[in-house]
Amino acid sequence: MQVILRQINDVIIRRAEPSDLIPVMEINLKTLPEHYSDYFYESLLAEIPEAFIVAEVNGKHVGYVMCKTEYGFSNFKRLGFVKKGHVVSIAVLEEFRKKGIGKALVEESVNGVKLKKCDEFYLEVRCSNTEAVRLYEKLGFVIKQQLNAYYRDGEDAYLMAIEFEK
Ligand code: ACO
Ligand code: ZN
Repeated sequence: MQVILRQINDVIIRRAEPSDLIPVMEINLKTLPEHYSDYFYESLLAEIPEAFIVAEVNGKHVGYVMCKTEYGFSNFKRLGFVKKGHVVSIAVLEEFRKKGIGKALVEESVNGVKLKKCDEFYLEVRCSNTEAVRLYEKLGFVIKQQLNAYYRDGEDAYLMAIEFEK
């Protein structure tokens, strides 16, 4: 059964289902240099469907966000061990950008990882990706670290994170 999270004009934001994985992989191939195995997409959907979300316009997939959860050291508290949500990947097809779809996907993924009782949420983003960094900052993420040569082509990443209220 489809779980629709919100609708913005003709854009439907809903939880992904197994049949969405191929279209999600196609968007990923078109928009980002980081790709993953089929199994990895399936495992993320199985692990946390609450934060694997797609955007659709008239039946066409135009964006996605997918996440995982991890236990590890807090990005905020010294010596704190916490449950963290992790944005693995998010993208919107170029011709559908700047309509608020990216923002809606991140906001709904925040709700999803909160349902999984995460204390924090984090991601890595290319330092040159100003569009994405600005979007995350607007939603409350802060730059916590710069990760040297994080990407295969040698570019640095910002580690950005947000802490949830208890
Ligand atoms: N009219 C005009 N502008 C608008 C409207 C509107 N109706 N709605 C939103 N905007 C503006 C926002 O204010 C924002 O502008 P700003 O950055 O100047 O503040 C801008 O559009 C983008 O916001 P959204 O529309 O919410 O985001 P979008 O749907 O464009 O998606 C994303 C952003 C996902 C980063 C997209 O650019 C993308 O797919 N990029 C390529 C892939 C990528 O880089 N992904 C992130 C990698 S990092 C990771 O995956 C963890
Ligand atoms: Zn990551």
